[in-house]
Amino acid sequence: MSNYHIKQFEEYYHVYRKSVRAPEQFWEEIAEEHFYWRKKWEKVLSWDFTKPEIKWFEGAKLNITENCLDRHLHSRANKTAILFEPNNPDEPAEHISYKQLHERVCKLANVLKEKGIEKGDRVCIYLPMIPELAVSVLACARIGAIHSVVFAGFSASALATRINDCDAKMVITSDGSYRGAKTIDLKGIVDEALDDCKGVASVLVAKRINSDITMKEGRDFWLQPLLDEAYNDYTAEVMDAEDPLFILYTSGSTGMPKGMMHTCGGYMVYTAYTFKNVFDYREDDVYWCTADIGWITGHSYIVYGPLANGATTVMFEGVPSYPDFSRFWDIVEKHKVTQFYTAPTAIRALAKQGTAFVEKHDLSTLKVLGTVGEPINEEAWHWYNENIGKKKSPIVDTWWQTETGGIMITPIPFSTPTKPTYATLPFIGIQPALMDEHGDEIQGNQVEGRLCIKYPWPSIARTIWGNHQRYKDTYFSAFDNMYFTGDGALRDEVGYYRITGRVDDVIIVSGHNLGTAPIEDAVNEHQAVAESAIVGFPHDVKGNALYGYITLKGSSEGRNQDNLRKEINQLITDRIGPIAKLDKIQFTAGLPKTRSGKIMRRILRKIASNETDQLGDTSTLLNPEVVQSIIDNAL
Ligand code: WT7
Repeated sequence: MSNYHIKQFEEYYHVYRKSVRAPEQFWEEIAEEHFYWRKKWEKVLSWDFTKPEIKWFEGAKLNITENCLDRHLHSRANKTAILFEPNNPDEPAEHISYKQLHERVCKLANVLKEKGIEKGDRVCIYLPMIPELAVSVLACARIGAIHSVVFAGFSASALATRINDCDAKMVITSDGSYRGAKTIDLKGIVDEALDDCKGVASVLVAKRINSDITMKEGRDFWLQPLLDEAYNDYTAEVMDAEDPLFILYTSGSTGMPKGMMHTCGGYMVYTAYTFKNVFDYREDDVYWCTADIGWITGHSYIVYGPLANGATTVMFEGVPSYPDFSRFWDIVEKHKVTQFYTAPTAIRALAKQGTAFVEKHDLSTLKVLGTVGEPINEEAWHWYNENIGKKKSPIVDTWWQTETGGIMITPIPFSTPTKPTYATLPFIGIQPALMDEHGDEIQGNQVEGRLCIKYPWPSIARTIWGNHQRYKDTYFSAFDNMYFTGDGALRDEVGYYRITGRVDDVIIVSGHNLGTAPIEDAVNEHQAVAESAIVGFPHDVKGNALYGYITLKGSSEGRNQDNLRKEINQLITDRIGPIAKLDKIQFTAGLPKTRSGKIMRRILRKIASNETDQLGDTSTLLNPEVVQSIIDNAL
């Protein structure tokens, strides 16, 4: 019992030690005392990182929605589960109680069944941040269908790729979405995507913006009339702990996005336990995470983690700048938010606006602040601490990944002393290691290396959907018997971790993970382009921005470069989405290559970051002469 809520630093060390000395016993106790299982497990953990195969709570039976909804009905029926704050501040907020949420989930579960969705089927959810999104996620989980949420900022072609990769049978979407002063035609994007998705039999459409859309006879159905007819109870499907719960795509450094697959039991236990401790969650809190449910942060810390704890979780449809830059603080004041969890890029964008927007608002209810998604720089950390937390709310800088399912390295508020730019210490049960280039673990403190995890934790992704080999190659092959994160990190003199950034070809732009290869593929589709290389460079708001080096085909060299830049960015927007647009495009006569023909991105990265004094030896290149001309023409 006492291990469930850590309140002191001493206690952290005590519980941490316990959790790594006897992990199975530790997690068994947490799982047993704090969740509702239809049947207990036969074995807490079996694992083999060489295969790789990881199983938690094998043989156990449960439904995660019974833990997120049903078990709260006797004590919290009328408590707000989801507090929906619409895009337009003049539209009233919606307080959805646990009882109402249960009913809405059950109704949709019945609709899904009626439309032929069975346990194990994949359902793609392409919705804005409206209550239907959370309800759809939970309704899938209720019937044992595997949800695959695609962030509603992705393009038709990115959506189609994701639908086809997991063979989704159904898409749940809306007529459109609001984004600040703009509306987006989501249904139109779905229609375009579905031209390439033959496996989708039905589309459920929520009404949000009341736009005129076309409905395809026999395929498309308005959601509301179906819900109106549906029965308001649904007996949850009994799932194995290791049955898939969802697939969520994340960019890789090469090729197709990776469909990370998470399972029911371990994911539930870990997200709930981390939520409770990382946010020091207490019964009457109003917790707000500003992420979109289209990303893992929203899955774990808007939906599952908070609801498993019976919390009130805020869902915000809009953007921080609409109607003006005080919107976040307006919401904090209006709903008396106690925990606020956002991305460094949002903090930097808001800090740029000065403090006038903040000062107008009463933020005194806040007690814990969080950040996630990318390293937070010193300046942003202090701005957040001084202006939002008034130096009394601890900042939890939480490091984790889509693949890890839950928070991995983080302070525990009021327990771990924080340090700007440091994610500090491993969470309970997490065993990090820093590795050197020879594959050896680096011992001791004040060292830097590649960040790995030595031992499984309950919410680690179990595979990449349809491609277990790629799962093995990406995460378990760089170092023996270790999960490799793709990040570099340093450990300071007291053992605190600071994440230094990706060590692969993934670039984090505004907290979004972008692989360079798929963007290069999109650029190379342009008929004028011969070859391209994309690298990141530091940006004061986005953290990183994208710099594209592009060589044109001989026949296109005379073309207007500004027009080409526009066309190339349009192509990227069509293939991936606006988040992947290039900030700078430099046309070059050639790209620096090794003798084996590999593009030397390291050199391009240095040039993009204006660090040309650190290029190192370029004489061994196949074409050293291009380097100087790239430097001379750098943007
Ligand atoms: C990558 C994972 C985890 C949810 C959001 C992103 C970077 C994440 C931090 C942090 C420094 C961070 C890492 C990681 N990252 N949190 N607190 N400090 N870097 O999930 O899209 O899977 O991206 O985000 O590079 O590998 P994701």
